Amino acid sequence: MKGKKGNPLPPHFFVQTSERVMSETENPGQSDNPSVYEVVGGTPVFRQIVDAFYAGVEQDTLLRPMYPEDLSAAREHLFLFLVQYWGGPPDYSAQRGHPRLRRRHFPFPIDEAARDAWMHHMTGALDGTGMPTEAREQMRAYFEDAASFLMNK
Ligand code: HEM
Repeated sequence: MKGKKGNPLPPHFFVQTSERVMSETENPGQSDNPSVYEVVGGTPVFRQIVDAFYAGVEQDTLLRPMYPEDLSAAREHLFLFLVQYWGGPPDYSAQRGHPRLRRRHFPFPIDEAARDAWMHHMTGALDGTGMPTEAREQMRAYFEDAASFLMNK
C-alpha cells in the first residue's frame, strides 16, 4: 500500500473513475492492471462482503451497541466506501464528501478488543466470497492497517 503508513485512504481515492479509465485507454500498457474492484467481480461481491460483515456485527455484543438500531445507512456507507476505495465508482465521495474516518470513529470506543472483533467479522466476510487469494489477502491486510489506525482507546 502506497501512502502514509496506517492512513486508510490511498492517493487515488479522489480521482474520478472516468478519468482513470480514460487515461488507461490512452496508455494501453496500463489496461493490464485492473483494479481490485474489477478483479473480484465488482459491485455484487462488495455487497456480499458488507452483508456478511453486518450479519456478524448484528450478533456481536461488543460492537452492536456502537451502531445505530437501524443498520441500513451504516451498511450503505461502508459499501460505497469500499467500492470506491478498491477502484469502483466514486459514489461515496459524492454522497459523503471526505471520509474523515478517524474523526467519524472518535465517538466509538475502539480498543484492541473492538478492533479484533471488527476484524473477525470482516475476515469471515472476505473468506465467504471465494475471491482470488491474492485480492483477499490484499484486502485483509488493508483492513488490519485501517482498523489499527482507527483505534482510539
Ligand atoms: C476497528 C473497529 C471499527 C469499529 C468499532 C467501527 C464502527 C463504526 C461505527 C459505529 C460506525 C457508525 C455507523 C453509523 O452511525 O451509521 C462506523 C462508520 C463507518 N466505518 Fe467503521 N468501525 C471500525 C473500523 C472501520 C474500518 C477498518 C473501516 C474501513 C476500512 C471503517 C469504515 C467505516 C465507514 C466508511 C463508515 C461510514 C462513514 C460515514 O459516515 O460516511 N470502519 N464504523
